Amino acid sequence: MKSKIVMLLAIPFAIGAGAVQSAEKTAESAAAPTAAAVSDRSAESVVNAKCIECHGPGKKHAPRIDDREDWTKRASRGLDALALGAIRGHHGMPARGGRADLTDAEFKNAIFYMFTKAVSAPTKK
Ligand code: HEC
Repeated sequence: MKSKIVMLLAIPFAIGAGAVQSAEKTAESAAAPTAAAVSDRSAESVVNAKCIECHGPGKKHAPRIDDREDWTKRASRGLDALALGAIRGHHGMPARGGRADLTDAEFKNAIFYMFTKAVSAPTKK
């Protein structure tokens, strides 16, 4: 039952991220010579370089990367609503998680990366 809910939530989320990714690909191929800078801006490296500072240990009540319930609850509002609050910053979360250099698409990919990790984490006992 629970995993069914997670699946349903994950579908619009995945579609949203897919659209973001393909838009980004188009932009990247248009600006091919600057691609070197792009490699350390992938969702995984952004999360590991920055977001993990707070989202790893759950600092100031940041949703932990392995907290499936917290992320599922937050994601039920949709990726755009989630991203909007995080882009502006709220409570203990600085605007764009302190990475003002990220585009909206890059930032959303980082969120999607954490969300995917959270929903594939084992359920808490
Ligand atoms: C300095 C600590 C800190 C860093 C760094 C940080 N966050 Fe957060 N983040 C928080 C806290 C605290 C919250 C919880 C805010 C709340 O809802 O009370 C949060 C919440 C969020 C949320 C949920 C927002 C919502 O509306 O529920 C998202 C999405 C998010 N962060 C994404 C990111 C991403 C992506 C990065 C890296 C680019 C990042 N954060 C880096 C502290 C941080």
